[in-house]
Amino acid sequence: MQPNDPASSALAWPGLATLLLVAVTGLTSPAILADKPDQDDQQASPSVNTDWIEDLRAGKITLAGDDAAVDMLILERHIPIPYDYIATLMRTPNAFGQGVACIICHSSNNPAKSYRGLDLSTCEGIRAGATEPPARRLFEPGQPAIKGVLGRRMRNNRMPLGVHFSTHPKAESVMAVLNWINAGAKNDDSFKDQVLPLFRTDNAFAPGSPACTHCHMSNQEPPSFHELDMTSYEGIMLGADSVAKGVDKATKIVIPGQPLDSGLYQHLVEDRMPPGIPPTDDRDHPNTLILLRWIEQGANCQ
Ligand code: HEC
Ligand code: HEC
Repeated sequence: MQPNDPASSALAWPGLATLLLVAVTGLTSPAILADKPDQDDQQASPSVNTDWIEDLRAGKITLAGDDAAVDMLILERHIPIPYDYIATLMRTPNAFGQGVACIICHSSNNPAKSYRGLDLSTCEGIRAGATEPPARRLFEPGQPAIKGVLGRRMRNNRMPLGVHFSTHPKAESVMAVLNWINAGAKNDDSFKDQVLPLFRTDNAFAPGSPACTHCHMSNQEPPSFHELDMTSYEGIMLGADSVAKGVDKATKIVIPGQPLDSGLYQHLVEDRMPPGIPPTDDRDHPNTLILLRWIEQGANCQ
């Protein structure tokens, strides 16, 4: 074939598609356990146990993946994401990490047939969001997607980390946090007596779970995940990543008066999707980044 043959430019596309396929199939395998590179699906169980918490802390589990193809060829170059690809992700098992396909549980806007009356099987359904009260959209097309309902469900593990989706959060503890934020998140006696101790107590939010302060004990990472200090009022109000981003830009986890918008409350009640995905699966899976980019590009149905 001549180099200036018009057909040769079309050849670049199969090349890109192959790269993407390699990236996707490579990452759906349980690659997070660095010392187990084989393709075996016998993955460590996602249950809370001291071993893996210690492994995580000791840095034996790495969350990095080989997502160079997606980063370099798609995201950095602002390639428009076609809806076709999003449709494929929604109907493909293991598309964002280990787990069944989204449309198994979210395939109709009828809440009797589909969780939250959420239809992820069509573009209109994805854009419409949940139809069961509280009915709400999952994102604003064209806006940053990471903090929206969908972005959170793709990336945030419910806390305490490792708690299984089938374990109900302890209602009275969650309500204590919600009421405190709702009442203005003050450093008053009721906070000191009834709320702060919850963060320091094992099993306070779910049976068989470690205290929040087991993993969020100072502004220093390691050992404290996301530089979040849950041992004191000041630490909680300062928020996450205050060293990495600077005190002014730290991620606030409490917005006084607005519990539903507060990361602290959201992290106590929202399970990552699909249910049962191991919490160690990459939160920035290449397909998650592509989904969020599609939203930020306007969530076009073409
Ligand atoms: C095995 C069933 C199941 C699968 C598979 C599943 N979900 Fe869910 N999803 C649920 C259930 C149950 C809820 C409601 C309970 C809750 O809020 O966690 C839910 C809630 C949600 C919500 C919250 C909607 C709202 O308004 O609060 C979003 C968003 C969501 N799922 C997205 C997804 C995506 C994206 C996938 C695929 C990656 C997926 N789900 C896979 C069962 C599932
Ligand atoms: C076993 C360790 C562990 C425990 C216990 C734990 N966390 Fe986390 N937490 C993490 C990790 C790791 C992250 C990083 C994000 C993720 O995995 O979703 C995180 C992230 C968070 C964030 C988001 C911070 C940000 O950057 O916005 C909040 C809020 C949070 N945790 C609250 C809690 C609360 C409240 C508890 C107790 C109910 C708790 N955590 C218990 C490990 C833990």
